[in-house]
Amino acid sequence: MIGVLVSGEGTNLQALLDDGLPVSAVASNVAGARALRRAEAAHVPTAVFALEDYDDREARDLAMADWLEEHRVELVVCAGYMHLLTPAFLRRFPDRVVNIHPAPLPEFPGAHALEDLLAAGATESAATVHYVDEGVDTGVVIATEPVPVLPGDTVETLRERVHEAEHRLLPRVVRELCGR
Ligand code: GRF
Repeated sequence: MIGVLVSGEGTNLQALLDDGLPVSAVASNVAGARALRRAEAAHVPTAVFALEDYDDREARDLAMADWLEEHRVELVVCAGYMHLLTPAFLRRFPDRVVNIHPAPLPEFPGAHALEDLLAAGATESAATVHYVDEGVDTGVVIATEPVPVLPGDTVETLRERVHEAEHRLLPRVVRELCGR
């Protein structure tokens, strides 16, 4: 069973759902995230683990790990989840947490990867699926799909094309990781 962590729009979650993958739980740090409505529409259980409801990040993450385990989650997919996961969480799912990132790693980590990539004059981005470790986008890369930077690209136009690549790549990789 797959658990998906989300913070925003949830188009990558939607790609997993549309692919028929066994998503049993969707958790967010953001109440009202559009991604939660996508999960509800697919009749997948959802929960919100907002930082302000817990003493600290570790307490929040342990509560989230408990909830995911209650939903028999074996693989955790971060799909636009915008908080770092604590070591306490990662120990609960050893080598079983992956993330989708919109740029090549380790070259362009972080929340502003596409801005940084365009500013650096790179000619190519890449949808990138990698294992999550304690760093910011520092885990081992599993698979990538290159996305060329086109003349006149803005962050928005490039992000749109990277998203299309993400929606192809992520379900394929998750399916392989699940042995399906
Ligand atoms: C994706 O571009 C992903 O690479 C990044 O956050 C974005 C999430 O988009 N980590 P969505 O919420 O799946 O639409």
